Amino acid sequence: MGDMPTTDATENRSGRRIWLFGYGSIIYKADFDYFQARPASIRGWVRRFWQGSRDHRGVPGSPGRVVTLVEQAGAICSGMAYQVSAAAFDHLDDREKDGYRRISVDLEFFDGDQGEGIVYLAGPDNPAYLGPASTADIARDIAHSVGASGENREYLLGLADGLRRLGTEDAHVFAVEQALQDYLAAAQPNA
Ligand code: BEZ
Repeated sequence: MGDMPTTDATENRSGRRIWLFGYGSIIYKADFDYFQARPASIRGWVRRFWQGSRDHRGVPGSPGRVVTLVEQAGAICSGMAYQVSAAAFDHLDDREKDGYRRISVDLEFFDGDQGEGIVYLAGPDNPAYLGPASTADIARDIAHSVGASGENREYLLGLADGLRRLGTEDAHVFAVEQALQDYLAAAQPNA
């Protein structure tokens, strides 16, 4: 992610401690140092399995599907916010390099506090973007994909579990999870 700007929001007022809002794998797998973690939401965005993963959960030619954010007026997307040092972004930028860029967002913590944060977003203009598909097609893509970080289904199930632990609803994620289970059951009816 060498072309990513070091934004004002990254070097912000809070003494170079920055809130990173996680809405995907970061919810259940925070493999970076952080000062504190707090459940939070962002407004005006929904989580969708529309980004292709050619590195972590798939390979070039057979990409997996991972989540990105899509603008939707009035929507609320919940996740986990981590307070990190600016240096944490060196690791994260490298980890998320296939199509993601950073943007600034307003955070609403579950306890009512508000803040400013950074989120990784993969828009339709990136080469790994897959875009919308039916729930069944997304689940089938996930069932068949594996990459350097493991099976794509593990990502989906980890995310769904993480959202339940947060006590948050996500109709899209839970529908894809159900569709994956239906697909796997149909593929192995006697398992
Ligand atoms: C997340 O968990 O928020 C996330 C992780 C990787 C890329 C984009 C988002």
